[in-house]
Amino acid sequence: MSKQRALVTGGAGFLGSHLCDALLGEGYSVVVADNLLTGRKSNIEHLRNDSRFEFQDVDINQPFDCGPVDYVFHLACPASPVDYTVHGIETLQVGSIGTFHALDVARKYNAKYFISSTSECYGDPLEHPQKETYWGHVNPIGPRSVYDEAKRFGEAVTMAYHRYYKVDTRIVRIFNTYGPRMQLNDGRVVPNFMKQAFRGEELTVYGDGNQTRSFCYVSDEIDGFIRLSKSDEHFPVNIGNPAEFTILECAKMVLKVTGSKSQIRYEPLPQDDPKQRRPDITKARTLLGWEPKIDLETGLKMSLEYFRNAALEEKTTNA
Ligand SMILES: NC(=O)c1ccc[n+]([C@@H]2O[C@H](COP(=O)([O-])OP(=O)(O)OC[C@H]3O[C@@H](n4cnc5c(N)ncnc54)[C@H](O)[C@@H]3O)[C@@H](O)[C@H]2O)c1
Repeated sequence: MSKQRALVTGGAGFLGSHLCDALLGEGYSVVVADNLLTGRKSNIEHLRNDSRFEFQDVDINQPFDCGPVDYVFHLACPASPVDYTVHGIETLQVGSIGTFHALDVARKYNAKYFISSTSECYGDPLEHPQKETYWGHVNPIGPRSVYDEAKRFGEAVTMAYHRYYKVDTRIVRIFNTYGPRMQLNDGRVVPNFMKQAFRGEELTVYGDGNQTRSFCYVSDEIDGFIRLSKSDEHFPVNIGNPAEFTILECAKMVLKVTGSKSQIRYEPLPQDDPKQRRPDITKARTLLGWEPKIDLETGLKMSLEYFRNAALEEKTTNA
């Protein structure tokens, strides 16, 4: 018998599916609520025959109830710039209405609650690196606002349920995370470069490539989630890799690990693209004893096989 039952909204997505693996490993039984807007059943295919695992095709923007649970992990939300641009309204809805519904489930069953927020709450930051106490520099009406403001609102509702209804909540602010099961075409840096490198296409760098990002390998990120889920911290905690790379350095690293001879092509910077991003992880270090273990080169090597198969499979399908 499993000791506890966890609900994972968005569990068929990239991070959600890895979280399901980790929760099953922790002894939970797991129910996923996902409408497959940006997720894929193939991400959870390996769990299909596990009697402790269940998938429910549920749009959490409608009131929903997957039965009694002890923990609600609320991850549902389009997450890549391509996805939240195409699904702008759905992104605002899931950050607001969907978050109310996920919190209502936690409240109904007196379950603990965990929400995946984002470094996008900091916008194009004026403080660097970003501490959890920084309130951010977000354009509330720009093209990225459907995501940024949805996530900021999600944090606000979560804190309100904690303050008014005493729901036992946690908030993680995730910085760029990469690894197997990411969608190949979601426009994020690592899948984009990997796809282009494996197909011998030019790697697209926006602007001069000197804008920075920090990249966290998925197993490190999920380790941070699990540690935070067991803590009593109600205020946001950054989980991300503080090693900072320019986009150009990342492109060169992808060329190195794939052995690709692709060239780099420069394109104009999209509106409101943050110039720099790096988490201050002092809080995660001291509170959770967490820090990332996998550097970018190692993580890219660990992701090679997945991205190679995905890139070549799709090329064959489209041929
Ligand atoms: N991957 C990252 O680097 C990153 C960075 C910051 C924050 N996050 C956050 O982590 C979470 C997961 O991101 P991801 O990268 O796994 O994205 P993803 O797109 O792979 O997963 C999101 C999942 O949510 C599901 N979903 C969306 N709307 C839904 C709805 N209305 N009802 C039910 N399911 C719905 C999708 O089908 C998908 O399976 C998101 O909340 C995202 O904002 C991710």
